[in-house]
Amino acid sequence: MTDKQNKPHIISVSSGKGGVGKTSFTVNLAVALSQKKQKVLLIDGDLGLANVDIVLGLNVKHSLREIVEEERDPMDTLVEIMPGFSVLPASSGVPEMASLSYEEQAFLIDSLEHITGKFDYVLVDTAAGIGESVLWFNDWADTNFVILTPDPTSMTDAYALIKIMHTRYEKNNFSLIINHVKNKKEENEVFANMSAVLEKFLGIKPNNQGAIPRDGAVANAVRTQTPFLISQPKTRASLAIMEICNKILT
Ligand SMILES: Nc1ncnc2c1ncn2[C@@H]1O[C@H](COP(=O)(O)OP(=O)(O)OP(=O)(O)O)[C@@H](O)[C@H]1O
Ligand SMILES: [Mg+2]
Repeated sequence: MTDKQNKPHIISVSSGKGGVGKTSFTVNLAVALSQKKQKVLLIDGDLGLANVDIVLGLNVKHSLREIVEEERDPMDTLVEIMPGFSVLPASSGVPEMASLSYEEQAFLIDSLEHITGKFDYVLVDTAAGIGESVLWFNDWADTNFVILTPDPTSMTDAYALIKIMHTRYEKNNFSLIINHVKNKKEENEVFANMSAVLEKFLGIKPNNQGAIPRDGAVANAVRTQTPFLISQPKTRASLAIMEICNKILT
């Protein structure tokens, strides 16, 4: 295993509600950061229902599962997608991976700590919901990105996640990303509503990390298993990801 060399910035990407765009966002943000000469590790934190490999069209040979079950070296499990961008894939259809014991979680985080020092940014695409793995990946991260859409159920679920992270883990720093927006007005309204609720009930002032428009290029990219930032760099969703990337780097 490689010794820890520096402290990377660890960012978790969660949402509470499923299907709001976590995986599409995280994969394309990783591409954007690597294009800006950052060394990025994307961890597929959806331990029981992996998706990152599908979105990237990877043929996964080894996954996080072998790190936990066979104590495989995480360095040998990394897949380099392009210079500066590596993925640690998860396994799909393995329910026991979604409910690791406390000891297994601690072992996994400890194993991950040994490889993260090689990177500038570690992005964790978590599972939907508020299961234990979502909570401990959020706890592990330095910054918690929460994705929501203008759908009221997405806002309620994002609130539930933030509330648990705040009350149980004393986290106060949340960066909101509004996906599937129609226009700037809708983006501002959703952020204002969510901020007002967080401030009133939890005393939390979230960061506005940006928004991504509803864009056919996103679904197209998932179908063709190529990040839209690569296949359609000028599409509106790509420009939005670049803006979010620049905000992270400033
Ligand atoms: N901005 C967008 N515009 C259009 N379609 C989008 C956008 N963002 C995501 N989608 C589509 O929504 C679907 C779900 O996206 P994705 O898999 O990234 O969500 P998720 O939050 O990771 O889901 P899960 O909770 O199941 O892990 C995909 O088909 C994707 O193409
Ligand atoms: Mg996903």
